[in-house]
Amino acid sequence: MNASANHDGPRRTFAAPQKILVTGTAGFIGFSLARRLLADGHAVCGVDGMTPYYDVALKQRRHAMLRESNRFVAHEFMLEDAQATLRAAQSFAPDIVVHLAAQAGVRYSLENPRAYIDANLVGTFNVMEAVRVVRPAHFLLASTSSVYGGNVDMPFGERDSTDHPLTLYAATKKATEAMSHSYAHVWGLPTTAFRFFTVYGPWGRPDMALFKFVDAILNDRPIEIYGNGEMSRDFTYIDDLVEAIVRLLPAAPVVGERAAAGPDSLSGSAPWRVVNIGGGEPVGLMTYVATIEKHLGREAKKIMLPMQTGDVPATFARADLLKSLTGFKPATSVDEGVGRFVEWYRAYHNL
Ligand SMILES: NC(=O)c1ccc[n+]([C@@H]2O[C@H](COP(=O)([O-])OP(=O)(O)OC[C@H]3O[C@@H](n4cnc5c(N)ncnc54)[C@H](O)[C@@H]3O)[C@@H](O)[C@H]2O)c1
Repeated sequence: MNASANHDGPRRTFAAPQKILVTGTAGFIGFSLARRLLADGHAVCGVDGMTPYYDVALKQRRHAMLRESNRFVAHEFMLEDAQATLRAAQSFAPDIVVHLAAQAGVRYSLENPRAYIDANLVGTFNVMEAVRVVRPAHFLLASTSSVYGGNVDMPFGERDSTDHPLTLYAATKKATEAMSHSYAHVWGLPTTAFRFFTVYGPWGRPDMALFKFVDAILNDRPIEIYGNGEMSRDFTYIDDLVEAIVRLLPAAPVVGERAAAGPDSLSGSAPWRVVNIGGGEPVGLMTYVATIEKHLGREAKKIMLPMQTGDVPATFARADLLKSLTGFKPATSVDEGVGRFVEWYRAYHNL
């Protein structure tokens, strides 16, 4: 864990505990963020629709852990319900809103595109409408490295073109960035959109490669490796991601107030910016698999397959803006992060 080792720049903090509304708190990232916010003394209102996209029991376990804090209140409903969304926001009156709930997953957007329209467009619209009414000091929402589509210039910088999404998932996330910019402009709402890069770690998502590979290897099933293993990803360890988000919470954008160093994505017409959260050190898929094998002490049976439609060959974050805004950039090695996931996985499944 390098959360404290890797910072040397500005650091804004809150003078008092905040009331923070987080959507997607039964999900991987929302749960991890909420747990940290509660540990830091904040009050958290969590909203999650408990969608059956993956194991709902895992989502319930996460929410049950958060409920152990008396500063956590949970609401379970779908964000497509505009009234429920507005009611939850009004009754909590948050200082900050972090919108993480979404239909995630690149490949599933080929199978069930409507889920992305409903959750990511309609759901995000309802959150923005509630934000417009309750006016938090900062609205933050999750986007993805997938918006960079098939860009070949690496690393990906926030001001690079994102006009050519390869999947509907990426297209809906690009749309939510644009939608939030319009609300930031019209209603003067300070807004930060994060672009996350392949987040992994304990309590992770069963539909993502790390969970699937560990599960298959331990159960003697072969793993499917796409792109003939030639893909690479800028993997971000969950504690690093959470540290970056926590540091961005007080860094609400102000029109005309640019980051001290590096190219800033700050809008010229709204208190809005987009920030990559990635470590800036891509790792090849086969290295990732070898690291998993090392920590499990077993070799995987591998089925090599071509790239799937919608997959991008590589992701690689330029992390300068994050560093300049927060003094921090993710730096946990894949070796350390995979080791921690394997430890958690074994404990979670009583292995
Ligand atoms: N994990 C990653 O690597 C990654 C990478 C890029 C972007 N993101 C984005 O980060 C955010 C969090 O992702 P995650 O990995 O925690 O995913 P997740 O699927 O674990 O969490 C999302 C949560 O949102 C809830 N949800 C989905 N649709 C909803 C709706 N319409 N109404 C209410 N709740 C709903 C789900 O039940 C789930 O608990 C998402 O916006 C995702 O697109 C994640």
